[in-house]
Amino acid sequence: MSHNIITELVSIVGNSYVLTAQEDTAPYLTDWRRRYTGKALAVLLPSNTEQVAAIVKLCAHHNIAIVPQGGHTGFCGGATPDNSGKQVVLNLKRMNHILEIDASNQTISLEAGCILQSVQEQAAAQGFLFPLNLGAKGSCMIGGNLATNAGGTNVLRYGNTRDLCLGLEVVTAQGEIWHGMKGLRKDNTGYDLRDLFVGSEGTLGIITGAVMKLYPLPISQWTTLIATQDIASTIALLNLFQKRATSLLTGFEMMAQESLALNEKHFPQMANPLQGRPPFTILVELSDHESEEHVRQLLESILEEAFEAGVISDAVIASNLTQANSFWHMREQITLAQATEGANLKHDITVPLSTLESFITETDRLIRAQYPGVRIINFGHLGDGNLHYNIAPPEGVDPQTFNAANEKRVHELVYGQVERCGGSISAEHGVGQLKLEGLRAHKGAVAHDLMKTLKRALDPQNILNPHKVVSI
Ligand code: FAD
Ligand code: MLT
Ligand code: ZN
Repeated sequence: MSHNIITELVSIVGNSYVLTAQEDTAPYLTDWRRRYTGKALAVLLPSNTEQVAAIVKLCAHHNIAIVPQGGHTGFCGGATPDNSGKQVVLNLKRMNHILEIDASNQTISLEAGCILQSVQEQAAAQGFLFPLNLGAKGSCMIGGNLATNAGGTNVLRYGNTRDLCLGLEVVTAQGEIWHGMKGLRKDNTGYDLRDLFVGSEGTLGIITGAVMKLYPLPISQWTTLIATQDIASTIALLNLFQKRATSLLTGFEMMAQESLALNEKHFPQMANPLQGRPPFTILVELSDHESEEHVRQLLESILEEAFEAGVISDAVIASNLTQANSFWHMREQITLAQATEGANLKHDITVPLSTLESFITETDRLIRAQYPGVRIINFGHLGDGNLHYNIAPPEGVDPQTFNAANEKRVHELVYGQVERCGGSISAEHGVGQLKLEGLRAHKGAVAHDLMKTLKRALDPQNILNPHKVVSI
């Protein structure tokens, strides 16, 4: 049977775009963290929406599961097929065209396979800011960003991918095309289908196109690194910036010292300009549409107030773009430093800012008591209450051995604290296969059942990314 299917797939996308040889498919079968490797009947590279629809119809007819894939940079194994060798991977990288930049509507229409960085660059070339920004921008694709509702470093000011999306084109599990590419900021015609597909991680439909919001490019940006001694001061600093800089505050990232120690170990050339390795290094960015001088004065005055209030102990303002980029680089490299160090136990959590201090204090205490010597790699988008609270084994201990023995208990400890603090076990990375069980245990029974009802209604055959997010 598989031979016939391959022939039929070739007739849809062309011989060069149905990959079956092991050396051709391998790059699509292991996730970025190298945590999951699967097998596939074929990797398909369609070039347009009609081809995607025809593939889905064919797969539905033969009951073959489809794993949609973008840049394969996701952290939860959502884009990796299972081990059966019976699923097909549908990668959208050839659908990488910007369709229109509508300057008057301040929107960009594009195909799902556009790489995030190239969207940012093409918007900037026309004088617009496309604010979605994450460390994987050079490889992740807009369809993947939408499917995971990605967050990143500008959420504080511009919202996450969901907030930036106005319209979608989606191929349903039946191979129908929903033409929802409208650039409307208001549309109250019943259920919000767009929001149903955003964040659904390829389990409800395949996103083939989108209309996204654009913003004016800021004329000046000031980036600064600030030292704080504890979480209470860090939150006080955030509240001070929120009060005084209001919408000019575009970034507020936190890096605990143990995270920067990993950077120091793996990228020693990247020095923290703050003195004496403070417990917390905070990266703050202000952006303005008025003048350089206006925002610089505001920044200095806020820092002065923070020093006087004893909230901060040191600060360095980037003196030029190169230095500002190096501050951001230091923040973004933590992910790579972790990957270089070896596997770690990732937690992408969020709690209300009012319970953040309690979450960190109590979780740190419990983790250090139960797992002496472990390193708590705590960093993230603190302005959004989003921590990447990752646990690395004690120095010198084999990560695989440590993780195999402790993974389940560490996750449950952290998720228990997240629940106590009124938070969520996934702030921005999604669920995929990694947090399938976590979601079942922590979403709440009614919410979990509603999700399963939606999945059954939209994909009764269970052919779109089965056993990711929810199992039905
Ligand atoms: P993939 O990994 O290919 O897929 C992710 C999920 O979406 C899968 O379930 C897949 O089936 C589904 N999918 C992909 N394309 C489609 C489509 N067209 N239609 C339907 N479903 C689809 N994430 C953040 O949120 N914030 C960060 O700050 C951040 N920083 C990162 C830094 C680094 C260095 C790395 C490696 C990753 C980072 N990530 C971050 C995680 C990742 O980049 C995001 O989740 C991103 O949105 C995934 O996009 P992708 O194109 O790689 O999707
Ligand atoms: C980031 O913000 O850099 C990534 O989302 C974090 C991670 O590596 O966990
Ligand atoms: Zn992040």
